[in-house]
Amino acid sequence: MKKFAISAVVLCVFCFSVMPALDAQESNNPGLRPILNHYAAHNFVTGAILRADLDLILHAGVRAPSANNRQPWQFTVVQSQSLAKKIVSNVVDGNVLIVISTVGDGKTNGSAILDGALATESIYLAAQALGYGSRIYTGPMDAINRSLKSDLGLPSGYSAVALVRVGRIQAGVDAVSAASSRKDAGAVVNYK
Ligand SMILES: Cc1cc2nc3c(=O)[nH]c(=O)nc-3n(C[C@H](O)[C@H](O)[C@H](O)COP(=O)(O)O)c2cc1C
Repeated sequence: MKKFAISAVVLCVFCFSVMPALDAQESNNPGLRPILNHYAAHNFVTGAILRADLDLILHAGVRAPSANNRQPWQFTVVQSQSLAKKIVSNVVDGNVLIVISTVGDGKTNGSAILDGALATESIYLAAQALGYGSRIYTGPMDAINRSLKSDLGLPSGYSAVALVRVGRIQAGVDAVSAASSRKDAGAVVNYK
């Protein structure tokens, strides 16, 4: 019994000393890999997204959780390069913009905006899990909501809250070379 207790203590000490040091590259958990390894792509290259992959990426958005399961969103897939260029000027051929819109004006309906943010994250991560590059944008939202709602076919009463750009990326650019650093967990986590 004493031996068991000592082993348990040693194991706990090991876990607590090693686990915080695990970073994205060291995690072998397949479910955590896309969550820990993601990065906002910079170097999109031309090339199409497979239709089956696009369907999966959209399904990730559709499956996102929402308050009271209201699912207050619309996902607009912009494949037209001329329309995409009006929104993100440096898109390259094959990039797809998925515009996430939610009920409300995009500024005051906090619950719907949060739901939209969760769907945005799911889409962003799903694209990377399938080997594509992705990047979230909110910069173009004012322009979209001011003048592109009808071009995008947004339902009445909806406003864009974010978009995810999905596309092919440069081989060899990975999370280590592309991702920016993050604050240390010690600076942003507190325990009570
Ligand atoms: C809510 C949100 C809005 C963002 N808006 C933009 C944007 O308008 N333009 C842009 O180039 N990147 C945008 N980004 C990408 C961030 O700059 C990027 O995710 C962040 O710098 C971390 O990059 P990394 O994961 O590659 O380290 C946005 C990201 C988030 C989460």
